[in-house]
Amino acid sequence: MSNTFCGEKIVVGVTGSIAAFKVAGWVSSLAKEGADVRVVMTESACRLVTPLTFAALSGNPVLTDMFAAEEAHSISHIQLGSEADLVLIAPATANTIARIAHGFGDDLLTTTVLAASCQVLVAPAMNSAMLLNPATKKNIQLLKEVGHEVIEPVSGQMACKTDGPGRLPEWDDVREQLLASLVEQDLQGEKILITAGPTREALDPARFLSNRSAGKMGYALARTAKRRGADVLLVSGPTSLPTPHGVKRLDIQTAEEMHSTVVESCQDMSVIIKAAAVSDFCPEHIRADKVKKEDA
Ligand SMILES: Cc1cc2nc3c(=O)[nH]c(=O)nc-3n(C[C@H](O)[C@H](O)[C@H](O)COP(=O)(O)O)c2cc1C
Repeated sequence: MSNTFCGEKIVVGVTGSIAAFKVAGWVSSLAKEGADVRVVMTESACRLVTPLTFAALSGNPVLTDMFAAEEAHSISHIQLGSEADLVLIAPATANTIARIAHGFGDDLLTTTVLAASCQVLVAPAMNSAMLLNPATKKNIQLLKEVGHEVIEPVSGQMACKTDGPGRLPEWDDVREQLLASLVEQDLQGEKILITAGPTREALDPARFLSNRSAGKMGYALARTAKRRGADVLLVSGPTSLPTPHGVKRLDIQTAEEMHSTVVESCQDMSVIIKAAAVSDFCPEHIRADKVKKEDA
């Protein structure tokens, strides 16, 4: 496990959505990657998952009651938000979204958000009808207008057995969004084309000439450039790697295809990084039928 979040103070606000159990896994991953995770739970969240689960996974006591925390002199209602590097509210119920959108400060989570001087990311999770309700849509828009980042929910089967938007995205995607919020956006406005992976030169319909490039270098460059705010186009040979979050990917097979794709796309680019292992050789003629081994 990498130490990517080492030393980052991350407040995770868990609210009363059925998806709260998923966020237990996220908290565990953040803590394993070195983050100092403080979990704040609403009263409703505590009825769905016990605070003990989040305490065990984060390695820190869970805060649930604003007044109890103050009385115990453990943490003040403004301290968490003002000291955090990042606040993530996940899952965020329609109710909490409404309260944050309208500036409420009636529990520890909402006061933490009001006092936060760092980026606040909100990951809505709810039934599709609740999400598409005009009141919720307006509240989500208000969150964006005051500068909070909304982690867009994805479509799929909901806990209530209906299909539609409202599910939390997968951790790998959310992780990328958290990392982007923690790093300086010094590549914002840049358009970067990156080539990656091997090419394949067909010998006949069954065989090809290629190399051992896995594409890891180009994909890592693409991921990092995206995290730093760039608009990234990845022109990739065949690899088994997943497309980095938010990166546009064009797949090619041959060196010729790599060349024409790069030439077509390069006009718009401010930077081009050629990390692909392009084949040095290709056959003069590609055989139309599979070459029999007896004819080799
Ligand atoms: C089993 C169960 C699951 C729920 N799941 C959700 C949900 O996924 N999203 C949502 O917005 N509300 C959901 N609710 C409703 C919220 O718990 C309710 O609106 C509550 O007041 C939210 O309080 P909070 O925002 O302070 O956590 C659920 C309620 C129950 C009983």
